[in-house]
Amino acid sequence: MNSTLEFNDSSITVALVGCGGFIGSHLLRAIFERTSWRVFGVDLDSYRIQEHLANPRFEFLSADLADPEVVKRIAQYPVVVNLAAICTPGRYMAESAEVIRSNYDHPRALADACAQSGSWLIHFSTSEIYGKTAANSGALVEDESEIVFGPVAASRWSYATAKLLTERYLAGLDGLHWTVVRPFNFVGPFMDFMPGVDGDGIPRVLANFSTALVRGESLKLVNGGVAKRCFTSVHDAVDFMFCVFASGEKALSQAFNVGNAANEVSIAELAQLMRSVYAAIKGVHENEVSGVEVISGEEYYGKGYDDSLRRMPSVEKAERLVGFKAKIPLKTALEESLTWFAHHYG
Ligand SMILES: NC(=O)c1ccc[n+]([C@@H]2O[C@H](COP(=O)([O-])OP(=O)(O)OC[C@H]3O[C@@H](n4cnc5c(N)ncnc54)[C@H](O)[C@@H]3O)[C@@H](O)[C@H]2O)c1
Repeated sequence: MNSTLEFNDSSITVALVGCGGFIGSHLLRAIFERTSWRVFGVDLDSYRIQEHLANPRFEFLSADLADPEVVKRIAQYPVVVNLAAICTPGRYMAESAEVIRSNYDHPRALADACAQSGSWLIHFSTSEIYGKTAANSGALVEDESEIVFGPVAASRWSYATAKLLTERYLAGLDGLHWTVVRPFNFVGPFMDFMPGVDGDGIPRVLANFSTALVRGESLKLVNGGVAKRCFTSVHDAVDFMFCVFASGEKALSQAFNVGNAANEVSIAELAQLMRSVYAAIKGVHENEVSGVEVISGEEYYGKGYDDSLRRMPSVEKAERLVGFKAKIPLKTALEESLTWFAHHYG
């Protein structure tokens, strides 16, 4: 494996699996803007990346990672970034077997192929692998924090269990060059969908609250919205990837938290902040935009719902090993996301 990737080296091709998704589409654009690389992209979906389909540096394959032939093609490239996954909470309960196939079986097959070909696999895991953290839990440290999940009956943990098993598999697989990314609630334009318009089911909280605001419906605070999260701009996430690309061996065999610890809010606080940002975008008083409503987790998501009450990343390792620190404040990230959402769907 090359120790570092030169950004101006036009002989490099990076495989981006899930390039049509929220994070993938931002990373794809940034690679074209900041490097001379070519990209081999795979996704089931391409609506977010239409503008790149004619780019001569881009080869797009509309295909399923479940297909072994597709896996073989991806593993021919020296760097493979895997973002493909089913990752909306609404599906963890209703489709847990499919969620496990997507978050364990598919990446496992890709890891086997990369171990054989010698590719560097940069795999997107999740901050959910830290499990059911309590309200008073401290910062989550990559190689130290202990992990407790909810019971099997709480099918919400299907996603986190599969992601964690994949991490363990990558770490245990002989000959694999790997890096694991654990995102802490990335937000930005193109996140998820508006239900009934370009997707069905329940999107993650940013798209959920944005949809409610645009439609003039109440923002639903699941179990009172007391859980806390550190929302992180997708642009910081993209910058992290460039730190990893440039870091070579320092990022190998490492899992990294990628989050903005300064952006911690409860979900109830997030709802208020989004209401006030949306009112400012619309030029109206806050009283004129949707209010909030408390709802139980089971009522909202269905049977098997569970949650972790705080997810605060330790950000020391990413700074120490690859020189990354998130910079974008929550309000700036929300202004960008909501402006985009209101324009795109409004
Ligand atoms: N966005 C976040 O805050 C966040 C948080 C934790 C973890 N992650 C992880 O980061 C990765 C990317 O997340 P995202 O927010 O961009 O999600 P996303 O749903 O927007 O993107 C995932 C993409 O993968 C594609 N895909 C899914 N299954 C596929 C398959 N079998 N074959 C080919 N393509 C397939 C989808 O079509 C989609 O375009 C995922 O692994 C997710 O679990 C993201």
